[in-house]
Amino acid sequence: MVDTRLSRRAALMGAGAVAAWASSPARALLMQADATIRMGVVPAPVDALIARMTLEEKAGQLTLNAAAWGGGVATALNPPSTGPSFEGQVADAVAGKLTGVFNGNGAVMAERMQRAVMQGSRLKIPLIFAADVIHGHRTIFPVPVAEAASFDPDLAMRTARVAASEAAGAGIDWTFFPMVDIARDQRWGRTMEGAGEDVRLGELFAAARVRGFQGRDLKADDAMMACIKHFAAYGAAESGLDYNVVDLSERTLREVYLPPYKAGFDAGAMSAMASFNEIAGIPATGNPWLMKTVLRDEWRFPGIVVSDYTGDEEMIAAGFAEDGRDAARIAFMAGVDMSMQSNLYMLHLPGLVREGLVPQATLDASVRRVLAVKHMLGLFDDPFRRIDVKREKARSRTRANLALSREAARRSIVLLKNDGGLLPLPTSGKRIALIGPFASGQHDLNGPWVVYGDNANAVDLATGIRGALKDQNALTVVAGCDVEKPIPGGIEAAVAAARAADIVLLAIGENEGMSGEAQSRTEIVVPAPQQALAEAVAATGKPVVIVLKNGRALALTGVVRDAPAILVTWFLGSESGNATADILFGTASPSGRLPMSFPFESGQEPYHYDHKATGRPAQALSDTYKAKYRTALNAALYPFGHGLTYGTIGYSALSLPPTMAWNGVIEIAATVTNTGARTAEETVQLYIRDRVATITRPVREMKAFRKVRLAPGAGETVRFTLKRSDLEFIGVDMKPTVEAGEFDVWIAPSAQAEGVTGRFVLAAG
Ligand code: BGC
Repeated sequence: MVDTRLSRRAALMGAGAVAAWASSPARALLMQADATIRMGVVPAPVDALIARMTLEEKAGQLTLNAAAWGGGVATALNPPSTGPSFEGQVADAVAGKLTGVFNGNGAVMAERMQRAVMQGSRLKIPLIFAADVIHGHRTIFPVPVAEAASFDPDLAMRTARVAASEAAGAGIDWTFFPMVDIARDQRWGRTMEGAGEDVRLGELFAAARVRGFQGRDLKADDAMMACIKHFAAYGAAESGLDYNVVDLSERTLREVYLPPYKAGFDAGAMSAMASFNEIAGIPATGNPWLMKTVLRDEWRFPGIVVSDYTGDEEMIAAGFAEDGRDAARIAFMAGVDMSMQSNLYMLHLPGLVREGLVPQATLDASVRRVLAVKHMLGLFDDPFRRIDVKREKARSRTRANLALSREAARRSIVLLKNDGGLLPLPTSGKRIALIGPFASGQHDLNGPWVVYGDNANAVDLATGIRGALKDQNALTVVAGCDVEKPIPGGIEAAVAAARAADIVLLAIGENEGMSGEAQSRTEIVVPAPQQALAEAVAATGKPVVIVLKNGRALALTGVVRDAPAILVTWFLGSESGNATADILFGTASPSGRLPMSFPFESGQEPYHYDHKATGRPAQALSDTYKAKYRTALNAALYPFGHGLTYGTIGYSALSLPPTMAWNGVIEIAATVTNTGARTAEETVQLYIRDRVATITRPVREMKAFRKVRLAPGAGETVRFTLKRSDLEFIGVDMKPTVEAGEFDVWIAPSAQAEGVTGRFVLAAG
């Protein structure tokens, strides 16, 4: 076991390491480089450094491994692997066999490794420290899909900024985020990590998150490199099974899945992660069309591509590579610059170059890109720039950061249903029974994909509610059952508590282990013991508010579906309970919208609102020989974009010119009015449908949205401008195209609501 305390002697040695670095040849060469170096125009000093490197040192710069410190948190989040001891890993780094490590243990660990490399390695090339900083570092924000429900990309940028400042304070230079995979199948557990099912929302959140993490200056000690993942189409896994194959038309790939990645790169992301999946028989990690033709040639991406965790090695099991050497060659030649966790590049690239199977120039090009990003991150100026134990502590979980977490959590909550205005609840005068496995306790608050946060530091629901109530005795808390099994006497205790109360809050749903990586589900329902609890409690006749915990859309059934009020509260992070109480008691009006559709039944998956009409669209369940199920329409119970407020919002007065000129724009407006008694924030959405085209078009596509705050009685005219490129699709020739003709328009509160609707014609050019 390694001593994790930073001694005075170690600190002095750190100073020694800085001195060693200051006089090193690598620094001398690189300091001549332009400070604003961009890949592709890498200055001569980088090449001079490359010229001094051995083949093994070059392969080392392309090798990234999970941190070995104390067993490493990294490996807990991934399949178990037997890595080296920490001392062994440090020795590898000093020997030039590692470019850096990920999911390590904060500034203390980073300082020790960087110091060893600066003092002991031949070329003194700084290590890079990476981590999965997905929804916060120590301050935990809502899971990414929840935050997407805010329909507020600016909020995502702000939370990413804070996550970057906390994580960069802990010595981390590079986050493996944002995940921008479109998720059209809610069985897929990693839905929770992206922005949902919609292309436009996905683009906006991808860009916002990149800007948040990278800041204005990548060298800043509160900025870090973003990584667009998982490239490409990882979310299209067949049957919602994580890691499964993907088989998509190039059109759907280009039209639906690729745009959010592109938006992330356009926002300046300097790294990409190759996805685990194959597309039409070719693993992404071994796919030169994706990594070169699309990424480099079409999109001019200048940054680095890293494999996913052993993604190169997995091409052996997939039947695409013969052995490790073959896998290394295939991945590298396809355009994957860096290998994560398998060590295959370190083991095989030097030999492959010597045997002429990998050109030396290709190897040098990847090394050049890696050194260039290290330079952009400021590591050659000061390898210790993000490593500061004091700063790590000072930046963690500050009041301001926690306040932002609460704000983000509040804005992520979606009110699905509120019959009879049951919510908000009064803070006194009513007895409340809080029932369910998520009612209280330090569990399932942060959500999946948290490396550094701790549920013990988060606020649970019972605590949040107690904080809001005037009379603490008004609250009774009963678990009723476990997440996936009954507890003896649980239902009886819950029913007794419900009987003695005026209102029941039922905190049910999925736990952290049920969504996230490798957590695909065949039935996206509330687990049976919790459904049984809900049925028993509802049978008391007391009004029930469902407080759902979930990382994906759920198919709600029985009394859960029929309850008068339903709140979607996801995994909200550090301030979970407080934020939920803010909404329950009306300190804030709910403003979140579903970033993915909640189907009627699990069997509808994959379901997405922007589906095609088919030749036999159904209008009603009684239709025969139409595109519907026996028990469900090809529609959602709660569609994309749906979410109520505590106001009463009306849509009227569509203003829409009849024609859009080929080279013009069209201004579309509607009036949105709050006739309710409470202030509300409405998310006004603009949808289009191209009525006839040479490629069939979706029944609706969201093109824009705007959030407006409306006091009681207030109205506002909300305006949108569409340009011709907003009407584009991927044409017969696989290129973006627009065709003149009729377009339907809706300004509406969801993908299925009518709102106000009209039609315009795009005139021929
Ligand atoms: C995941 C990535 C993650 C990596 C490193 C993989 O299993 O797919 O999203 O960044 O592990 O932890």
